[in-house]
Amino acid sequence: MSKPRFYVTTAIAYPNGRPHMGHAYEAIATDVIARFKRLDGFDVRFLTGTDEHGLKIDQAARAAGKPPKAYVDDMVAPFQSLHESLGISFDRFIRTTDDDHKALVQALWQRMAANGDLYLGRYEGWYSVRDEAYYDEGELVTGEDGGKLSPNGAPVEWTVEESWFFKLSAYQDKLLALYEGHPEYIQPASRFNEMRAFVAGGLSDLSVSRTSFTWGIPVPGDERHVMYVWLDALANYLTGADATGRGSLDGEWWPADLHVVGKDVVRFHAVYWPAFLMSAGIALPKTVFGHGFLLNRGEKMSKSLGNVVDPAAMVDRFGVDRLRWFLCREVAFGEDGSYSDEAIVERTNADLANGIGNLAQRSLSMVAKNLGGVMPVRGEAGETELRLKEAFLSGSEAYFTAMNGLALHKALDALMAMVAAANGYFAENAPWALAKTDVVRMAEVLAATLDATRRIVILAQPFMPGSTAQLLDQLGVAADARDFNGFNVPVDAGKQLPPPAGVFPRITLEG
Ligand code: MSP
Repeated sequence: MSKPRFYVTTAIAYPNGRPHMGHAYEAIATDVIARFKRLDGFDVRFLTGTDEHGLKIDQAARAAGKPPKAYVDDMVAPFQSLHESLGISFDRFIRTTDDDHKALVQALWQRMAANGDLYLGRYEGWYSVRDEAYYDEGELVTGEDGGKLSPNGAPVEWTVEESWFFKLSAYQDKLLALYEGHPEYIQPASRFNEMRAFVAGGLSDLSVSRTSFTWGIPVPGDERHVMYVWLDALANYLTGADATGRGSLDGEWWPADLHVVGKDVVRFHAVYWPAFLMSAGIALPKTVFGHGFLLNRGEKMSKSLGNVVDPAAMVDRFGVDRLRWFLCREVAFGEDGSYSDEAIVERTNADLANGIGNLAQRSLSMVAKNLGGVMPVRGEAGETELRLKEAFLSGSEAYFTAMNGLALHKALDALMAMVAAANGYFAENAPWALAKTDVVRMAEVLAATLDATRRIVILAQPFMPGSTAQLLDQLGVAADARDFNGFNVPVDAGKQLPPPAGVFPRITLEG
């Protein structure tokens, strides 16, 4: 039987600066979901990339004294190498300057035009280059100096220009019907309510082209215009759905199952994107998940505050798996969260060194020392084994429910409850004391502990791919028994295990 499919995407980042922790966070969370789905038997396609057209990039290139294409060619490299160092298991890194993408966006435009949804007019209103977004007067806020700002606090400028418009106003009822029929379309629920209220408040037609600069995809048939960067950018998900790279609108992976994006760009994905697709007669993605913002010690990261951290330096300092673990465990997925060096050290020492690492290390080293490294035979389940089994049944059920509901942090709560149960079982049965009194029972306790450890490590794989692979090697788990089908398949007694080595040493703030 063929595997069910799962197509997941991140937002594509503007490469007008170096990648920051927000980008790393989104890539990591999405990678965790992609890896979970693969282990759960899905055929996964995972798309990520960069958003390279538009006024913001054009201005940044000018400031750098380079032609825009040469500028983005340089700027994209740190994003690609960051993905490498974070262990992001993407299938394609799309750049909106890729040829197949340009062709697809023009084909999409033509479909929308054929449906009568595009008309030529004149835009007069507010635009924020930093947000690459149009705003109605009523949406603006007043800055500290009395000037007008976008709801994200970005400067806005009054813009008057000939423009092609998309009849977004005609899609208000269809969008409301979409939300009504598919509440899972926008998650978490708080973002769903925001978007529904926004659309219910009425929609103006959307300016979808510009004439005052040229760094964009030309409008077919009217090449004085380049397309609005968000129409271009959103379509990346469709381009990436055609794995043959031809840029066909009928890509075999479409519709996407999940777009993971930050809360500041939910509007584009929850309102504009489905309206464009409806206009072009293309199926809609299943879910847009808006995650929260990552803060540095509770503060917004910004160049002016001087608190922008290079995620590659965090990987060098803490190791990729500690960083991945911390971000998924500490931040409730969907809400804002904070990081600091202290919190990373404390959290990973508690969960990884003292929790999972200690469990693996103590049981594996006892097997090495007392049993010649041979996997012991499991005994009849007694009272403590039954309790452990119960904790693992409810823990693994909670883990799967949380992962399937995109509550990554809750999945890790469940996993840590399993770690506590396993460590409790080990302490209660004190195999180090049994080594002197009852070696058969000692071996049984070690067998049960190693099996509990194996289960924990299997479930931890999406979060920490590198260190869990090392642990599964040490636990003697065959390569084909590491997905969730292997969860209930114990390692054969009698198997010779490799010599154990600590995988999660304690770390200190001093480094
Ligand atoms: N180019 C657009 C997205 C187009 S998607 C078709 C964009 N780029 S961005 O570089 O500004 O942001 C990329 C992603 O990172 C977005 O999902 C954004 O919400 C997310 N984040 C940016 N800063 C963030 C934090 N501080 N914390 C978490 N995510 C943040 O928007």
